[in-house]
Amino acid sequence: MIILAIETSCDETAASVIKFTEKPFKIEILSNVVSSQIQIHRAFGGIVPEVAARVHLEKILPVLKQAFANWHEYGHKSHQFAKIRDQIREYSRIIDLIAVTNGPGLITSLLVGVEVAKTLAYIWQKPLMPINHLEGHIYACFASQIPNSKFQIPNLFPAVCLIVSGGHTELVLMKDHGRYEKIGQTRDDAAGECFDKTAKLLNLGYPGGPAIAAQAAKYRNIEISKYRVKLPRPMINSNDFDFSFSGLKTAVLYKVKSEKRKAKSKEYIRTMCAEIQQAAVDVLVAKTIKAAREFKSKSVILCGGVAANSALRQQLETKVNNLITKPQFWVPPKNLCTDNAAMIGLAGYFKFIKTQEHKNIKTKNELSKIFNWRKIKVDPNLEIPIFSKITSRQLAEK
Ligand code: KG4
Ligand code: ZN
Repeated sequence: MIILAIETSCDETAASVIKFTEKPFKIEILSNVVSSQIQIHRAFGGIVPEVAARVHLEKILPVLKQAFANWHEYGHKSHQFAKIRDQIREYSRIIDLIAVTNGPGLITSLLVGVEVAKTLAYIWQKPLMPINHLEGHIYACFASQIPNSKFQIPNLFPAVCLIVSGGHTELVLMKDHGRYEKIGQTRDDAAGECFDKTAKLLNLGYPGGPAIAAQAAKYRNIEISKYRVKLPRPMINSNDFDFSFSGLKTAVLYKVKSEKRKAKSKEYIRTMCAEIQQAAVDVLVAKTIKAAREFKSKSVILCGGVAANSALRQQLETKVNNLITKPQFWVPPKNLCTDNAAMIGLAGYFKFIKTQEHKNIKTKNELSKIFNWRKIKVDPNLEIPIFSKITSRQLAEK
């Protein structure tokens, strides 16, 4: 099966072509093109939604064209057809399904990807599958680590997933493919947002996460710094699985304001960044480990843009390995942590398999009826599909 995936939920215009072989099971990412708008938004110190949508409009067709051009197996052949009509016929022959992010995200950005996907689905007469961006982040884990020939990964579920990005910080219990329970989330800022905002306070530019990580890496040993910077670890001991990062941001703001002279020193900035990163990592790791213990999870999944952070990857993995029950630890390769379309294609495939199982689909026509382009709705506030919601009382009773 060949899936074309499109992602435009925020400030990355992305398209990917993935081939899935069933027997033996194999995933091949044939192309994965991401056009980042970072340079454009850097001038504003953050993402400007209106600008993001306009740039998506400019980039979406070149990105799709590039994705086809990189698609070695068939792509070079089809995109070399001189006539558009022949190209269209060839793609229509080869592609089985289109997957597109329909939320959560910036409404105007989402609309660009969804409208292009609808158009292609209409012209090619293909099923169009809506994919939740957060599920996409989770499925990025399976890009390279799934043992070939095993679609059913042994001892994967229940999995505790930490989804940590610029817009979200959530702990989700994944009981099976497509079956989730939300167990905790941030009550204010997301962890990535906290990095972005504190980096701005320190004049480190946008996006803040990689900038803070780079500064922190230059000053690993906070202990020997001549500066003493201690930041709070908000909600680290709270009796739930929620997070809060706005207090951390405010603490940095007060420190930078009250220590203006020091804030000019490189060593101070590096010490501060190391402490910001460690404060966030401490809370993220503590709550995830607590959830893994509480729910006796067989695996721990770390995903989302902030999962590209080396300190978070290493420290969470170490703590997971130290658990007596030794859950598996899954994290996407760094390039698939931040927004991309391959993760949307991966989520699409697993959703296809589950739908096929549940609805006993035999023909392509039946699939096209379920995933019809006319049915797609864009929802900027889309939540991860909750199978059942655990209430705080149930959590307390556990
Ligand atoms: O998942 P993503 O690409 O977009 C959203 O869905 O939000 O995540 C972007 C976020 C930004 O806040 C960025 O600062 C953060 O991920 N990020 C990082 C790193 N790389 C990206 N945070 C910490 N360390 C990194 N290496
Ligand atoms: Zn994302």
